[in-house]
Amino acid sequence: MPPLAAAPRILVVGSANVDFTVAAARLPRAGETVSGGTLLVNHGGKGANQAVAARRLGAEVRFVACVGDDASGRGIRDALESEGIGVAGVSATREAATGTALIVVDGEGRNQIAVAPGANWRLSVEMARGRADDLAWADVVMCQLETPLETVAWVLDEARRRGAVTVLNPAPVRDGALELCRLVDYLTPNEGEAERLSGIPVSDPTGAAAAARALRERGVGTVVVTLGAAGALACAADGDVRVSAFEVDVIDTTGAGDAFNAGLAVALAEKRPLGAALRFAAATGALACTRRGAQPALPRRTEVERLLSGR
Ligand code: RIB
Repeated sequence: MPPLAAAPRILVVGSANVDFTVAAARLPRAGETVSGGTLLVNHGGKGANQAVAARRLGAEVRFVACVGDDASGRGIRDALESEGIGVAGVSATREAATGTALIVVDGEGRNQIAVAPGANWRLSVEMARGRADDLAWADVVMCQLETPLETVAWVLDEARRRGAVTVLNPAPVRDGALELCRLVDYLTPNEGEAERLSGIPVSDPTGAAAAARALRERGVGTVVVTLGAAGALACAADGDVRVSAFEVDVIDTTGAGDAFNAGLAVALAEKRPLGAALRFAAATGALACTRRGAQPALPRRTEVERLLSGR
């Protein structure tokens, strides 16, 4: 898909972390120590990952977040700025340290993640309110659930009021998330999140479609359920759309969902039809699985287009 003349404008409001990732042969069980792994330290956080992914896909991106007033927070801000992302909305607090994620990835690329949110939970409505111009500027506004729900609710509501398309990636799923549905144009749960939000078992595309329909009844415009190796399924007002996953050599799935969300947001901002937007998102997500880490693995637009064209 060639980019349109004007770059789409994406505002991401969300989390930023430092990720400590150990690649090990297998994931530890409770109480178990698994040794012999290798460590990778890099920047992550679902919000920052989505911002970086959207930027690498060619969008103009601004990011609203809260980091600690510490070396990690400054490092995150600098790295985002050198990606070409607008960071005027990244606040620094003295009340908490920058968010941190401990990640273990096994030989099949599956992960376990534990997060200390720290400063992410200090992203207040006041901080977001101070970025009203960014909300007016954006074509698409994306949020996740690693920051306070009241801030997410305020941002989605205000974005809607100002005419932007809203995308909510309900990850990690939390109590109270259902209340946000009426503010969301595109909701992007994975299977587990769709199951928890809808109360409907999601073990296959049929279950995913039933869960998606139930979430639409809560007020969401379009529900996109990501199904890992089974692709993705969208339930929209005018029917369902299903896309397959792209076959790639999986090294590390960390950040794949964030890449998918960024691909979807960019394609929607470019006014692609839903099926094409889902394929673009699926290709972006697939490529993010082929390298280690979250942000280092996020692909550039040329790679996504190459995969889409089958070259
Ligand atoms: O989605 C992956 C991200 O989840 C990681 O980068 C980690 O920081 C957690 O927020």
